[in-house]
Amino acid sequence: MDTLKLAGTIPSTAFRRVGPRRVFLFPSLIAISILLFTFYRPPELSNYVVEFHGDAQLSHSQWDKLDAHLQRCEELQAPWQTYDFPPSANRTNPRWKVSSGQKQTVVLRNVTVFDGDSILPEPVDIVFAEGVVQSITSSGANNFDAVANTIVHNYHGHFVTPGLVDMHSHHLAIPWPSLESYVDDNEINEATGPLTPMVRALDAIKPYDIAAKIIASGGITTSLILPGSANIMGGEAYPVKNFLRGGEYGEEIVEELLLEHGIAKENRRRYLKMACGENPRRVYHHTRMGNAWHFRHHMARAKELREKQDAWCAAAGIARQRKDSAAAATLLAEGPYAKGGLPEELELDSSVAMLRGKIGINVHCYEQEDFEDMLLHSEEFGFRIQAFHHALSAWKVPELIKSSGQNITIATFADFSLYKKEAYDGNLWAGKILTEHGVPVAYKSDHVDENTNARYLLSQAATAHSFGLSELLALQSVTSVPAKSLELHHRVGYLKPGYDADIVVWNSHPLSAGANALQVYIDGKSTLEEKSFSPEAADNTKPGMRAETAAEDIKLFCEHPKRDESIVVTGIKNFYLDTPDIKPSASFNLTMVINNGKISCLGDQDRCISTTSTSRVITLQNGHVLPGLTTISDTLGLAEIESEETTADGYADRTANVLDPETALYTKYGIHFEGKAFNRARIGGVTRSITYPYGDGFLQGVSVGIKTAEGGNPINGGIFKDDVALHISIGQDAKSSLQTPSVSKSIATLRRILNDNKGKDTLYGKAANGKIPVVAHSENKYDILQLVKIKYDFPKVNLVIYGASEAPAVADEIASAGIPVIFNAAHSAPSEWEKKDLLVGPPLTISPVQVLLESNVTFALSLLPGHDWHLANLPIEAAAIAKEAGISSKQAIDLISIKIDDVLGLQKSERNSDFVIWEGDPLEYGASVVLTFDGDNREVVGCWPEAE
Ligand SMILES: *[C@@H]1O[C@H](CO)[C@@H](O)[C@H](O)[C@H]1NC(C)=O
Ligand SMILES: *[C@@H]1O[C@H](CO)[C@@H](O)[C@H](O)[C@H]1NC(C)=O
Ligand SMILES: *[C@@H]1O[C@H](CO)[C@@H](O)[C@H](O)[C@H]1NC(C)=O
Ligand SMILES: *[C@@H]1O[C@H](CO)[C@@H](O)[C@H](O)[C@H]1NC(C)=O
Ligand SMILES: *[C@@H]1O[C@H](CO)[C@@H](O)[C@H](O)[C@H]1NC(C)=O
Repeated sequence: MDTLKLAGTIPSTAFRRVGPRRVFLFPSLIAISILLFTFYRPPELSNYVVEFHGDAQLSHSQWDKLDAHLQRCEELQAPWQTYDFPPSANRTNPRWKVSSGQKQTVVLRNVTVFDGDSILPEPVDIVFAEGVVQSITSSGANNFDAVANTIVHNYHGHFVTPGLVDMHSHHLAIPWPSLESYVDDNEINEATGPLTPMVRALDAIKPYDIAAKIIASGGITTSLILPGSANIMGGEAYPVKNFLRGGEYGEEIVEELLLEHGIAKENRRRYLKMACGENPRRVYHHTRMGNAWHFRHHMARAKELREKQDAWCAAAGIARQRKDSAAAATLLAEGPYAKGGLPEELELDSSVAMLRGKIGINVHCYEQEDFEDMLLHSEEFGFRIQAFHHALSAWKVPELIKSSGQNITIATFADFSLYKKEAYDGNLWAGKILTEHGVPVAYKSDHVDENTNARYLLSQAATAHSFGLSELLALQSVTSVPAKSLELHHRVGYLKPGYDADIVVWNSHPLSAGANALQVYIDGKSTLEEKSFSPEAADNTKPGMRAETAAEDIKLFCEHPKRDESIVVTGIKNFYLDTPDIKPSASFNLTMVINNGKISCLGDQDRCISTTSTSRVITLQNGHVLPGLTTISDTLGLAEIESEETTADGYADRTANVLDPETALYTKYGIHFEGKAFNRARIGGVTRSITYPYGDGFLQGVSVGIKTAEGGNPINGGIFKDDVALHISIGQDAKSSLQTPSVSKSIATLRRILNDNKGKDTLYGKAANGKIPVVAHSENKYDILQLVKIKYDFPKVNLVIYGASEAPAVADEIASAGIPVIFNAAHSAPSEWEKKDLLVGPPLTISPVQVLLESNVTFALSLLPGHDWHLANLPIEAAAIAKEAGISSKQAIDLISIKIDDVLGLQKSERNSDFVIWEGDPLEYGASVVLTFDGDNREVVGCWPEAE
């Protein structure tokens, strides 16, 4: 912020308080003096001559003090440093050190580069040394063989990007596995209240959080570590590089994690975290009105201090210039301004920096009214907002956001949403909509648990791309856009000469399903073991985007199918159904005929088409036919907005006697067949859900089998199976129950239930007799072994393990006992102690799914609980898992469809016989469901769900 403008706002009263021998100034003079002040430099001490003025004398040390404070004035008032672009190729990386930095020059030969702006037209060779990119030149002409001290990697055309930048993460402040005693994200305290701009994430960072390594393996090299969002002003945030123990002695040192390590502390960038709306409202019991008032009240204090500072600095500048000892003495005396000298208050330091435009303001803010309010505050007090974070409703008001003129970045999620009121308007097309209005969009993680695992940041860009964000904007959204928003784009977010050597080599196009890092360099140092890869296999095919089809065309198209007796679909490239009577002919371009909801022919057009004459023909370019997929959920149909109790069924009574089967909840009585998550399921080709009661505690209750098609209800077949399984929990979640306060008690209780109810015709009797499966939710390997033991002791019980994060560690035992598993931890994380030893998967470990397969465990896959928002991507998850585990697409699809029926022992008539016709390959991003068929009623139950 420029000083001139503010000079006009200094109240004249401020000057009257200077002292008995007042510095006499006209307001216009103030402006001039501040201008002069900008160029003012304290003289060298040796040249310094004290001139006496009036009756006051000032000692040398007093003048020195005045000069020191004037120096501080200069620091405070100097405009925020910006950088020249592009950085020169010979710049040094301040993080680099002789002893611990990149030692050998590295050459990545023959790579396809996205450089932060665009994809270079031809393959290049990248050279980097001492943590800085030296050159990027056209591949082929160079000969590096003879260059000393150089490592050359030939990547045969593989895709390379700058290290990804995540502008919102809480790792290091809350390390994995999370333990109560070191959750240091929110300063929640009655004494300090919701305004804590004075606290710093720096003081929370634990430089040994294993999450940093996991996150880096996803290609994220830079993260902004912010305080949490409980407070209106949460505190200062710090950018780090995700490289642990990278310093000279390999010790766990916070300073060495900081991106600006090596730069003088006073010259480092600053960031402030703020929050609107629901969180501070909930935590401090204010309304939005109270939130706003407390913030404005605080900012008024900061503004007053800033004005006092500017007035002091102006007066001191003039006193210095005129060598006016009396004025100087007054300015240094105890007085109403400050305790001798330039007024400063540590508590208000970052708030004043806000008003001086010297701290990047990042505001957690979701909804349109909250953006508007925060923009009002920014106008009232004169601060610029760097980014609105989360901001899931921003797509509704892009012009409002633009109208601020502040070029505010929307740092958001691609599909994570729906979990609370503020998140309920999340839109899968938001990235496309916002960027079409010229609003910069960045994707970020909000890392702390599996829902927000930063390791999967890139998949958000890929998801956004599949929903219409262009390839370049999608790649920029996790590299250069966040880097620019954070004003770190002179070092990171780009892959060009002069940038930090933070580089990721990918095994496929970075926006494709299951893209994984082959290598990640941070400051030029590799972070992954070198992996072998097939030189021919650089498949950089860009995945598609969903076809843009006019709403009227879709409407017209979708009006038909329900009435259609016979439908012909041409252009089918892949068919994944197990149909004993229909075997596709060898042809790649198949035609399928559906008569009365049943496939009557599948093969060459000539063979199939003759059987029908009056059919409607659907012509696909890249048709795929998949079985309807099944999800396992504790919320779908039960809790629409998880944090809003009135939108949900409710919890079990945790004080009830769990030995009494009457206390079990039956989900079948609570299902509502509507909500936004249902639509996400339909977009993902998910036609069924096994929904079990949510909440923790030992006894969860009985799951129901429901259909996700529109218009379902409990009396028209929306429920395909009333009582699927009895769900109980063995592990940390169960400890909240009054009667099972420990894991051991939960195990004993399960044993007692199975032992005491044999032969009874109750729910527990059926469970004991194997008439209804017992699905035991369990994560820890020792808890799982207790279940294995129970299976041996109660062989009749139809036991299923669900969750099973650490199952790979005891896979042989599970397989030998013949216990089927519903595994939901293929892309999970060691976020909790009880699953600290799970396998995080490639590129750091073997795929946990591969371990289960190789041990011959019978299993199916599902998303983690609370992931209904992710259902549109269920086939993509399966595709990524298939790539990582080295299994076929067919196997992957089976694991999220028929295998679930197998594991839960569904009867033939209860099994999922739905099928879904897609345009595009659903195992790659960008495919759309065209028609959904219900296998029981043999009818079309869905048409183009993404248009809903
Ligand atoms: C670095 O490069 C710039 C031009 O890009 C040049 O002006 C400068 O002298 C170089 N500095 C060093 C130390 O080589
Ligand atoms: C780069 O790799 C691709 C794929 O292996 C190969 O076809 C091409 O010839 C290579 N280019 C150079 C310059 O080596
Ligand atoms: C706005 O911000 C984005 C992202 O930080 C940046 O790419 C763009 O150049 C900025 N536009 C202007 C006009 O400053
Ligand atoms: C697939 O078959 C249909 C019908 O026979 C034909 O019209 C279409 O051109 C074929 N497409 C390809 C890619 O071969
Ligand atoms: C898994 O099953 C296959 C095929 O039956 C068998 O060859 C293999 O040895 C089994 N693996 C284990 C670990 O039991």
